[in-house]
Amino acid sequence: MNKTSKIFAGKNIYYYQTVDSTNLAIRRLADEGAPSCSIVLAEEQQKGRGRLGRSWFSPPGCGLWFSILLRPRMLNPVNAAPITLVTAAIVVENLRNHHNLPVNVKWPNDLLFDDKKLGGILTELKGEPDRVEYIIVGIGLNVNQQPGDFPAELGMQSASLYMAGGRLINRIDLFLSLRKDLLKAYALFFRNGFTPFRDLWKKNNRTLGQEVTVSWSGGKLQGKALDLTENGSLLIEDKHGQINIVNYGEIN
Ligand code: BTN
Repeated sequence: MNKTSKIFAGKNIYYYQTVDSTNLAIRRLADEGAPSCSIVLAEEQQKGRGRLGRSWFSPPGCGLWFSILLRPRMLNPVNAAPITLVTAAIVVENLRNHHNLPVNVKWPNDLLFDDKKLGGILTELKGEPDRVEYIIVGIGLNVNQQPGDFPAELGMQSASLYMAGGRLINRIDLFLSLRKDLLKAYALFFRNGFTPFRDLWKKNNRTLGQEVTVSWSGGKLQGKALDLTENGSLLIEDKHGQINIVNYGEIN
């Protein structure tokens, strides 16, 4: 079922025509001992997964669906959290620099064009309370979809790189370029933490300075998004002038 094409030979990239979810596939490989920086890339996911238990629409022929396995040498799970923001910042920077696409990031992990979602990141972690065994970063990007390609319930809120730039993009070239930038960024992140990436995330974000509602299981908070902390949490000023630190959730 898995195949390594010539393009990917020697790079620990597992290419699947169809898979349940690239995050699940790389987790199976991780548990069999696959090395750090292994990647599962799929043409189609039948059970693509989003954050908060949602599904992720992943048809063949138009998107980029892949997951990266990382095995940091010594990392506390608390310090792993900003890797989602690092990923979002690097993907957006790549798309802006190499394709001149006006895309931004919404805290924590939504990739947007014109306030519509064109990509997302699902980060999962295995470890003990004080040590990460491995991290899986799953990245989904709508690349060459046309407006009519999304199911009705997603159409209004979804976009693609094609819709952002008016040009079809070669998905293999894009994948290889993102892989290069991301693996370099992760090496720096494991050495120096989130600090080197904070300004990059801020430069490309659509969240700070806005009135937002952040919700999470069991709660929500309304206020103005003021800034990011040193480890990627969101600082929100509520209507009483109180500053709250939000580590997890979703902006509606
Ligand atoms: C989100 O915004 O909710 C996160 C979406 C993440 C989707 C990607 S596609 C590749 C990888 N495999 C999955 O099953 N999910 C992630």
